[in-house]
Amino acid sequence: MAEHDDEAPTAGSAVEKREPRQVSAGTAVVTSDVFQNPGEPPHRDRVTDIDPKVEKRAERQVSLFFFLSIVGSIAAIGAYVAFPITSGDSGSVRLNNLFLGLGIALGLLSVGIGAVHWSKTLMPAREITEMRHDTRGSEPTREKAVEVFALGNHESGFGRRSLIRNSLIGALVATPLPAVVLFRDLAPAEDPNAVLRHTLWEEGMHLAADPSGTRIKASDVTLGSVFHVIPENLNESEHLLEEKAKAAVLLMRLKPEDLNPAEGREDWQYDGIVAYSKICTHVGCPVALYEQQTHHLLCPCHQSTFDVTNNCEVIFGPAKRPLPQLPITVDADGYLVAQSDFHEPVGPSFWEREK
Ligand code: FES
Repeated sequence: MAEHDDEAPTAGSAVEKREPRQVSAGTAVVTSDVFQNPGEPPHRDRVTDIDPKVEKRAERQVSLFFFLSIVGSIAAIGAYVAFPITSGDSGSVRLNNLFLGLGIALGLLSVGIGAVHWSKTLMPAREITEMRHDTRGSEPTREKAVEVFALGNHESGFGRRSLIRNSLIGALVATPLPAVVLFRDLAPAEDPNAVLRHTLWEEGMHLAADPSGTRIKASDVTLGSVFHVIPENLNESEHLLEEKAKAAVLLMRLKPEDLNPAEGREDWQYDGIVAYSKICTHVGCPVALYEQQTHHLLCPCHQSTFDVTNNCEVIFGPAKRPLPQLPITVDADGYLVAQSDFHEPVGPSFWEREK
């Protein structure tokens, strides 16, 4: 190396060559650990470990929390019944939510506090050093797992302390009960067949423009036009939004020769003017797009397409049923009126639907 360094650098040797650094024997790295392992702190018995009276008291305290949890869960159900939600009354919603929430909070909090108190006061407080093992599901591992469960059962007293065990089981059974009454609210309050089968439409009900509510004359519906329609009496309805969600209708005028009415529906249209439910039979979005040239109605949600010339049969998309047709005619003054309600429930399918 020294011999090499002595040579004069050539024009092409761009890399600088250096003498290797001399390391003195005094700078050798010391690999020993500078921190001593402090080891486990000395074990200190808890008062429940040495005084059976205190242990018994702790056991009662744990059970008390579990019983409190049961009380909270039952109180939540009681609150749900005692403070019913009245439609349109936001105060009733607040009261219902407040007391229902307090009951559920008491139920969950108490079972949590009870479990923590149990482990802190009654379960063994030994310090354990656990060695790392290979994690493989061998037979010895499974046997070890069973052993650990058995030890846990023995040390926690789960099998032995029947008062705690039974009250805990009671608390765990009671805790999900409030969910039952909450899930019940997801079900329809009334028979859906009756609710969805009938809308505000009835014989002689005038078709009115949405949202102005003005009557529509047959002569105002020009070829290719589309009207968004509501029943004339909709604004007097107590449940305006619910009724509108069922009764909304689309009105279109086609050439009468373009229509192919199904059997029995020949007189459901007036001079090429037809009315169909606006509520998609897939999952209930408003079908609001009308293609003048093809006479197709398109639902913007999932692109179900209905053929107006052919009784609004589904020609594309996930909907499974045609849009229900509203039979219409005109009154003595030429205003469009319904002949009756829809002849089938509007909107998406549901279990109780007959067809
Ligand atoms: Fe109309 Fe899905 S809601 S296609």
